[in-house]
Amino acid sequence: MVTFFVVACLLSLCSFALTDECRSGFLKDMDFPGTDLTFLYSPSVEHCQKLCTQHPSCLFFTFIRPDWTKDDRNFQCFLKATPSGEPASQTPLPGVTSGFSLKACNQDIQSCFPEVFENVDFFGADYRTLFTATSEECQRTCTQDPACQFFTLLNENFAGTNVRFKCHLKFSWNIPTIPVIERNTGLVSGFSQKRQVTQFDAACQSKFLLNTDIPGSDLLSLKAVSAQHCQVLCSAHPQCTYFSFVSDDFKCFLKNNPNEMVTEAKDGITSGMPARYCQFENFEKLTYEEVDFKGSDIRFELTDDADACQRKCTETPVCQFYTYINENFSDQAFWRHCFLKSAITIPVPPKVSKLDNAVSGFTLRDCGTTVS
Ligand SMILES: *[C@@H]1O[C@H](CO)[C@@H](O)[C@H](O)[C@H]1NC(C)=O
Repeated sequence: MVTFFVVACLLSLCSFALTDECRSGFLKDMDFPGTDLTFLYSPSVEHCQKLCTQHPSCLFFTFIRPDWTKDDRNFQCFLKATPSGEPASQTPLPGVTSGFSLKACNQDIQSCFPEVFENVDFFGADYRTLFTATSEECQRTCTQDPACQFFTLLNENFAGTNVRFKCHLKFSWNIPTIPVIERNTGLVSGFSQKRQVTQFDAACQSKFLLNTDIPGSDLLSLKAVSAQHCQVLCSAHPQCTYFSFVSDDFKCFLKNNPNEMVTEAKDGITSGMPARYCQFENFEKLTYEEVDFKGSDIRFELTDDADACQRKCTETPVCQFYTYINENFSDQAFWRHCFLKSAITIPVPPKVSKLDNAVSGFTLRDCGTTVS
């Protein structure tokens, strides 16, 4: 009995080691049925694979290709996982392509998608429109605007004559957002120290309005670890005109009102304005004591201290932030655990669908630059 248990253990370790290999190829007309974590929209199997790679727990995926004809689920990218890391089954299915996460490949995720998609709409997430004569001009405009992640142009044959040549610039988060931030004794959290590629030399000025709220005009609310982090989020969002940060519960309110800014004294709230076209220095370098960046775990490793955990995160390409558990945490079983975490930062359209005479594509900002 004891021998059997040991052998089973060795086998499960063995299978874990096997799933750790880098499998970058695609399986055309093959389905990995079931075991879905979620689905996102994606225009191509290469993009779908990068979504899986950046999703913290996705291990493999099935993409429903544009040539799928059974129903209108084209462009859905199903992110999947099993405890073993292997698909539960593999079934031939024309019109879908499956593959594996690139987490184990230990390479930087290039956010470069040069392909332009004809008769495809990247629906939603618009922040600005203009008229351009060609899709190249629309894409160039997108590439020049730091907020633009993807675009859709309606071309000269589009059914609605009044919106022909209309170029829609669109936004999704290209810096990691952290879904849950909480206070917890014995936890230390922080960010990967990988230098973000930036075209800006000037350091951003962080001038805050302390103990000041700007009520109303809410665009969206998300989590930030500090007022400066909230300012970074506001600065990345093209529609954010100013923000208010509540330090008690780490709430960062991005606001939109280009016409006026009405402030009000309030303890515990810090407000401020975005700083664009400059380089943020501090917030990623700092470590945040007694703070949990909860969830979004890729995996954990054991390290001696929080600094070693930060280094581990920095040298792991898919890791974007981390939480380390030290000896002040209540449950000793978790001491020295270094949780590596990730979020999707490649452009992700809220919806992708077929649309005659629409042309869609991505910013070329990250093409031809190397991340180090
Ligand atoms: C644990 O808490 C004590 C008291 O707050 C502090 O002095 C010490 O540095 C903490 N230990 C670690 C590893 O952070």
